[in-house]
Amino acid sequence: PFFWALIPAAGIGSRMRADRPKQYLHLAEKTIIEHTLDCFLSHPQLRGIVVSLAEHDPYWPGLPCAADERISRAEGGAERADSVLSGLLKLTELGARDHDWVLVHDAARPNLAREDLDLLLSELADDPVGGLLAVPARDTLKRAGADGRVQGTVDRSTIWQAFTPQMFRVGELQRAMAEALIAGVAVTDEASAVEWSGKSPRLIEGRSDNIKVTRPEDLLTLNRLWQQRT
Ligand code: C5P
Repeated sequence: PFFWALIPAAGIGSRMRADRPKQYLHLAEKTIIEHTLDCFLSHPQLRGIVVSLAEHDPYWPGLPCAADERISRAEGGAERADSVLSGLLKLTELGARDHDWVLVHDAARPNLAREDLDLLLSELADDPVGGLLAVPARDTLKRAGADGRVQGTVDRSTIWQAFTPQMFRVGELQRAMAEALIAGVAVTDEASAVEWSGKSPRLIEGRSDNIKVTRPEDLLTLNRLWQQRT
């Protein structure tokens, strides 16, 4: 089987309160999405990359990678899951088979380490289900009531934070996501659709600095990481 990458990048990123979607904000000399794509473009095992973009995205055409023939565009949708499903259809058009692997990775997660990507590929290549990069919960977790007061403390020893990439078979993921969406299940990541189909994805412990840019302070953290590196 081949490996493909699918990058949902059609979100508006309202929690960033920026003048443009967060994947187009700058981190050092490039936009966040370019850093994200670099990690996949430089990997020799990937057959092709699909990026799901908002319909009238004015930022993408100006990027050098828009002309890269290894990258194809799909039309994003209202929710992340719609953008992923559309990307999966595009992959099939490009020749991806049911039993090929697809790695779905957030455009807004630019600090994916090559070692984590390699770890995911090697750990899951023979897995019957697939899985995802994740980290064990670090902080004590509270369940909140609508009044903003603590209702209880969650046992954190069994809790993990789900990161991306999430790696599944193209055909299985497509079926699981389509069925979960029809059933009205909340599909906030690929694994949740696969879980809903009755399977149990594997958790692969990755680096905790594979953060998703969600709030303004995340970009500050990434800028500090980048400065230390150069
Ligand atoms: O909003 P959130 O941080 O969960 O978005 C995660 C990723 O999914 C981002 O890269 C974003 O661009 C993408 N997304 C998408 N289509 C949507 C919503 C989010 O491709 N409708």
